Amino acid sequence: MPGTGGAVNLLAPYLPWLKALHILSVIAWMAGMLYLPRLFVYHAGAEPGSPMSETFKTMERRLYRAIMTPAMVATWLFGIGLTLTGVVVWSTFWLYAKLVLVAGMTWLHVIFGRWCRDFAADRRPHGAGFYRAINELPTLLLIGIVVLAVVKPF
Ligand code: HEM
Repeated sequence: MPGTGGAVNLLAPYLPWLKALHILSVIAWMAGMLYLPRLFVYHAGAEPGSPMSETFKTMERRLYRAIMTPAMVATWLFGIGLTLTGVVVWSTFWLYAKLVLVAGMTWLHVIFGRWCRDFAADRRPHGAGFYRAINELPTLLLIGIVVLAVVKPF
């Protein structure tokens, strides 16, 4: 029924709740994706083994494991749930383009996890400038994803 796009509209009655939960989990995931690289920028300037460095390790680990990863899983689950509400017109391309950018965001999430482990082991493969540049990537992906999801340009 809604959007009359998808033959599969098993979850159609739950569309509003699924969309609300999808957007809430997106907000939590993106909060971490934008904040964690900032922690990396400052952590790269802290002496390995120093109290400051140990505090950053705790902040990064808790942000990544307790907020970002559960929020990413929830974003995927509620997003897939939305595709089962009949809201998607599969002959349009916005969702395919969106999923390519979301795959990029998910890959970046996995890479951030690897960098958390590097810092936790006092390995410093990159400097503050590198993380400052990386910080722009989730922002650019976010802009592309939200424009595709809301405007549905094609
Ligand atoms: C992870 C895989 C994802 C899937 C399968 C997915 C799928 C969907 C679907 C089917 C809709 C409903 C569109 C409609 O109402 O017509 C939707 C809405 C939305 N998605 Fe996603 N999404 C995913 C990830 C994301 C991410 C990562 C973001 C943001 C960074 C995002 C932002 C949004 C927004 C803002 C809406 C509301 C659009 C509106 O109400 O018009 N989604 N998503």
